[in-house]
Amino acid sequence: MRFPILLAIGLVVPSISAHFDRRATTSACSQLAIEFPGQVYNPGTSEYVTETEAFFSTTDWLSPYCVFAPVNSTTLTSGVQLLVHTNTSFAVRSGGHQPIPGFASTDYGVMIATTHFTEKTLVPTPNEFGETYIRAGAAFRWQEVYDFLNPYGLVAIGGRVAPVGSSLILGGGLSYHSYLHGWAANNVVNFELVTANGTILQVNNATHPNLFWALKGGSNNFGIVTRYDLRTYPTGPVYGGSVTWASNATQQYLDAFTAYISPGGGIEDPKANMMPSFSFEPLSGVVALGNIYFYNANVSNPEAFENFTTIPTMASEVGVMNFSTLTNQTAYFSELVNRWGWYDTAVLFGNESTQLIHHTVVNCTVGFAAEPIPVSMQQAAIDNGGDAMDLDPSRGGFLVAEVYVTWSDAADDEVVKEYLTSTIADIDRQSKEKGLYYPFTWLNDAGFDNSPISTYGYGESLRKMKAVSHTYDPAGVFQKLVPGFKLGFDWAG
Ligand SMILES: Cc1cc2nc3c(=O)[nH]c(=O)nc-3n(C[C@H](O)[C@H](O)[C@H](O)COP(=O)(O)OP(=O)(O)OC[C@H]3O[C@@H](n4cnc5c(N)ncnc54)[C@H](O)[C@@H]3O)c2cc1C
Ligand SMILES: *[C@@H]1O[C@H](CO)[C@@H](O)[C@H](O)[C@H]1NC(C)=O
Ligand SMILES: *[C@@H]1O[C@H](CO)[C@@H](O)[C@H](O)[C@H]1NC(C)=O
Ligand SMILES: *[C@@H]1O[C@H](CO)[C@@H](O)[C@H](O)[C@H]1NC(C)=O
Ligand SMILES: *[C@@H]1O[C@H](CO)[C@@H](O)[C@H](O)[C@H]1NC(C)=O
Ligand SMILES: *[C@@H]1O[C@H](CO)[C@@H](O)[C@H](O)[C@H]1NC(C)=O
Ligand SMILES: *[C@@H]1O[C@H](CO)[C@@H](O)[C@H](O)[C@H]1NC(C)=O
Ligand SMILES: *[C@@H]1O[C@H](CO)[C@@H](O)[C@H](O)[C@H]1NC(C)=O
Ligand SMILES: *[C@@H]1O[C@H](CO)[C@@H](O)[C@H](O)[C@H]1NC(C)=O
Ligand SMILES: *[C@@H]1O[C@H](CO)[C@@H](O)[C@H](O)[C@H]1NC(C)=O
Ligand SMILES: *[C@@H]1O[C@H](CO)[C@@H](O)[C@H](O)[C@H]1NC(C)=O
Ligand SMILES: *[C@@H]1O[C@H](CO)[C@@H](O)[C@H](O)[C@H]1NC(C)=O
Repeated sequence: MRFPILLAIGLVVPSISAHFDRRATTSACSQLAIEFPGQVYNPGTSEYVTETEAFFSTTDWLSPYCVFAPVNSTTLTSGVQLLVHTNTSFAVRSGGHQPIPGFASTDYGVMIATTHFTEKTLVPTPNEFGETYIRAGAAFRWQEVYDFLNPYGLVAIGGRVAPVGSSLILGGGLSYHSYLHGWAANNVVNFELVTANGTILQVNNATHPNLFWALKGGSNNFGIVTRYDLRTYPTGPVYGGSVTWASNATQQYLDAFTAYISPGGGIEDPKANMMPSFSFEPLSGVVALGNIYFYNANVSNPEAFENFTTIPTMASEVGVMNFSTLTNQTAYFSELVNRWGWYDTAVLFGNESTQLIHHTVVNCTVGFAAEPIPVSMQQAAIDNGGDAMDLDPSRGGFLVAEVYVTWSDAADDEVVKEYLTSTIADIDRQSKEKGLYYPFTWLNDAGFDNSPISTYGYGESLRKMKAVSHTYDPAGVFQKLVPGFKLGFDWAG
């Protein structure tokens, strides 16, 4: 059998495909279509094209046998039962912003799209969770949540980039508010989850505490989330926005970043946050330097960014504005025209860390993001209920080091993959030499060959997550039939 489409960065065909049975899958699609009229889209229909191309990266444009877009949780449960009963592989897509091919769509089965889970309801106190929260169906993009909450003067803890989807939470979720409130996942009060046997569970700290913990970082290993109930916080006008610098500012920018993460630097101000970006186009030689500032107060020019704001900019959209206006500056990240790929690792905070990541990358490419995960954020994650990533603040702050490439020709996929994995290996080699290696791989920026979940709790979380999986998915449906970052073991059950 040939598997023509899996050329993109993950070149190893997922094990699921080895057993793929085209006829059985087609039959499952026919049964789904009979049972759920109007909710199953076959190749050749415009709905099928829309759903299979609703991805940030064209590496994800695959050819599922059909798309199942259930209208509510009840039909999803019956659909999952049918797929399990017919032993049909299925992938799950929400916001479509993870670029790994074959994780949220498939050439070997059915793609489930959460498109119709569009509820947004503000639930004020008093309620069972004791705090005002938003019930948000899994179809949401973060901008919709921020726009919905903005008139109430509220914000939820989620993505920094407007069109990214809800599954950001299932990989932790790094937010502009994370240094105060932890990962986005630490601010979920309840997940509505459809499990392997087609049961709808309300998963929270009171009902299913171990499953609740495991979902906070556990990706698609435990079920399909149909709704996220998210804690809200009051927000007023904030300072921030995007800036770009000319390439001749590179050294100043790196020095500013190093000072920012150093003891006494701006990162120690809990109101401060930012999303730095650096990219390089090998063909044109153009270097693009940028930053998006966020400061959680109505101030201008907060001291935390002083070493950046003194560098003359090329363009700036910085000012005091409401939060949803700030995030909407990244609306352009919904463009669906390129191939994307990324891998990540982590490097301890240190005065050589920034240069280490930058140098390695610039030699041949393309882009890096250094995402600071300071001690304050790790402590906030614990204070807000913990999670499967289970970071230990006593090990210090660190940078998630993401290397990303964007390209257009599928013929380059292999080269890109080799570039990404060798660059990550090079960063790890150098950081180990310098005593700066940090043993954590963040799922949301991870690549196909990364193994993020095995790093959770420095290797300690996996055993607990497997136990949770055995309890809620004894047949291993989400291990065997659903692609993604798996718990990584042979399932006897
Ligand atoms: C431009 C850009 C900016 C980003 N910025 C940030 C950021 O600021 N902070 C951050 O933390 N991350 C960020 N990310 C990473 C992002 O969080 C991940 O790519 C995340 O997986 C995207 O979620 P999604 O719903 O859009 O993805 P999808 O591609 O739909 O899904 C991602 C994974 O989740 C699974 N999944 C989808 N829906 C469900 C469901 N309902 N139940 C169970 N599993 C499901 C899929 O099978 C897949 O494995 C960014 C990504 C991009 C492309
Ligand atoms: C289900 O499919 C898998 C491969 O996807 C195969 O290994 C297994 O034997 C099948 N199980 C049944 C009960 O048919
Ligand atoms: C779910 O949708 C089905 C099909 O439209 C409908 O029959 C059913 O009543 C709905 N269930 C709920 C709980 O809304
Ligand atoms: C947020 O900012 C936008 C753009 O300036 C404005 O249209 C909107 O009214 C503001 N909303 C609030 C609640 O301030
Ligand atoms: C960088 O280049 C810009 C023009 O692109 C120029 O205005 C600026 O003075 C230069 N800065 C330095 C530090 O050379
Ligand atoms: C700015 O840089 C200086 C010199 O490196 C450093 O002492 C200072 O802490 C930095 N300020 C901030 C807010 O990071
Ligand atoms: C921010 O604060 C200033 C006073 O310091 C005030 O004039 C301004 O209206 C505030 N901005 C907003 C958007 O509330
Ligand atoms: C968000 O940005 C998009 C694209 O720039 C724009 O069309 C839209 O009007 C903006 N929405 C708001 C609420 O500002
Ligand atoms: C780098 O950090 C070390 C301690 O880790 C310190 O001794 C040294 O002075 C720092 N160098 C700079 C340039 O800040
Ligand atoms: C950078 O790439 C060039 C070739 O493109 C190579 O000769 C050189 O050794 C590389 N440098 C590093 C530090 O890897
Ligand atoms: C979860 O429940 C336990 C006891 O059942 C409690 O100790 C803990 O504080 C709760 N955590 C959260 C985040 O509510
Ligand atoms: C389905 O799984 C749930 C927990 O995940 C369990 O409570 C329930 O008994 C199971 N139902 C059946 C019919 O096996």
